[in-house]
Amino acid sequence: MAPPPRDDEQLRTPLFDAMVSLAESRKVSFHTPGHKSGKGIATRFRKFVGPRVFSIDLTTLDEVDSLQNPTGVIKEAQELAAKAAGADRSYFLVNGTTVGNHAMVAATTGPGDKVLIARNCHRSVLTGLIVSGAQPVFFQPLFDRNLKLTLNVTFDTVKAAIDANPDARALLITSPNYYGLCTDIERIIPYAHEHGMIVLVDEAHGPHLKFNPKLPKCALDAGADLCVQSTHKIVGGMTQASMLHAKAGRINIDDVTNTLKLLQTTSPSYILMASLDLARMQMATEGKKLLNRAIKLAEDARTEINKIPGITCFTKEMAKQAGMADMDVTKLTITVSDLGLSGYHVSQMLNTRFGIQVEMADPFHVLVIVSIGDRQEDLTRLVEALKVISAETGLQGALLPLDKVHPPSLTNRFAMTPRKAFYYDTELVPVNRAAGRVCAEIVTVYPPGIPLFVPGEEISADAIEYITNMAGWGAIIDGLNENNSLVRVVKA
Ligand SMILES: Cc1ncc(COP(=O)(O)O)c(C=O)c1O
Repeated sequence: MAPPPRDDEQLRTPLFDAMVSLAESRKVSFHTPGHKSGKGIATRFRKFVGPRVFSIDLTTLDEVDSLQNPTGVIKEAQELAAKAAGADRSYFLVNGTTVGNHAMVAATTGPGDKVLIARNCHRSVLTGLIVSGAQPVFFQPLFDRNLKLTLNVTFDTVKAAIDANPDARALLITSPNYYGLCTDIERIIPYAHEHGMIVLVDEAHGPHLKFNPKLPKCALDAGADLCVQSTHKIVGGMTQASMLHAKAGRINIDDVTNTLKLLQTTSPSYILMASLDLARMQMATEGKKLLNRAIKLAEDARTEINKIPGITCFTKEMAKQAGMADMDVTKLTITVSDLGLSGYHVSQMLNTRFGIQVEMADPFHVLVIVSIGDRQEDLTRLVEALKVISAETGLQGALLPLDKVHPPSLTNRFAMTPRKAFYYDTELVPVNRAAGRVCAEIVTVYPPGIPLFVPGEEISADAIEYITNMAGWGAIIDGLNENNSLVRVVKA
């Protein structure tokens, strides 16, 4: 059989080409940035990174177009990105998926609107609500006692939320989650649409899904109206570089464009935007091959890790048995608690003794992201290190009492919208005396980053107990003050 025709259009990189051409023209620059192609940059910086990168650290000029009002090479680059993603419009983002979540929420909802949100959302979804003024209605992800992990939301949970809130304007889900676990977008999105809701998907962890059929279906292909992807997290974008993709019909594309103009800088980094242009080209033209290699590396490592006594690594079958629709196999969620060690402890051992840095740890697991940048020797080193840890530790049995690190099921106890709470007079009170008070801050336990206290919501005693236990285990608590002892609440 003849190979499929090569998509030569997707080999183009209009923004990057224009930047190189401008840099090579060596024009005299009497404009920003002040370092003038690196001539004014600190010598130590230039010596370390080399001089060329500064010659493409440009500003908005005719030759390289404007992100705020694209009419030239940025417009072309975004159009190529839209074609590759299957979107009607794609936008380059220079403040990560954070600004994409802000834009998705603020462009489609406003004061008086209700938004159904899976509670495993990133904090940027909640800060987006502060911008928009809409009221969240949360529903819970599944917690699996065997896997000792907060999974994603199930179709039944989302359906129940939709049925109970037929007046909601939008549904926002996060899929895949950090662990690569996917909710059933192929059933959820049509169900929400049938009930008149638009669907926004935080696909921060899924910019690669479109480009390899062995990976779970991506949100746009399942019918999402808007989705945001962290190109920098998983594929070739530089840190902060993300994309927002839109499908016309249920949403107004002009609203998205105008909201991004409000939220994004007027001085975007051209280096970040070029990395998006090139990452799109790379995925569209050789993504399948590159991802095949990453998938194989991850699957082989998973098999080896599952042979190590006391250590297990999730498989797609385990995720499906636990009720998840699918799993991105490039994520290695490694359970270490049967060694009698916490994920935090193993993460630290891997780092300090073996020079291996994992993406994150929780009380029971460490999470490893395998991507197109990894090599066989990296995975071999990980497997060998885990073998040493297992052999040295022996099977000491689970140390952690599950009930103490099981996130509470939080019902909706809103006294006001997140936006109203944000602008209210506030005060700091001791966390252990905050039950029943209306929170004015976002407090998350990271990982998995599920918001436990949300502005406008009454603080629950269960959430306080969970946070206190997790802080004791070494989790990072984001949003509290004074050594995790004080929380900001709305003044009584
Ligand atoms: C699910 C999810 N959404 C959004 C974000 C924010 O993405 P970014 O760091 O690209 O701003 C993160 C970051 O970890 C995330 O995990």
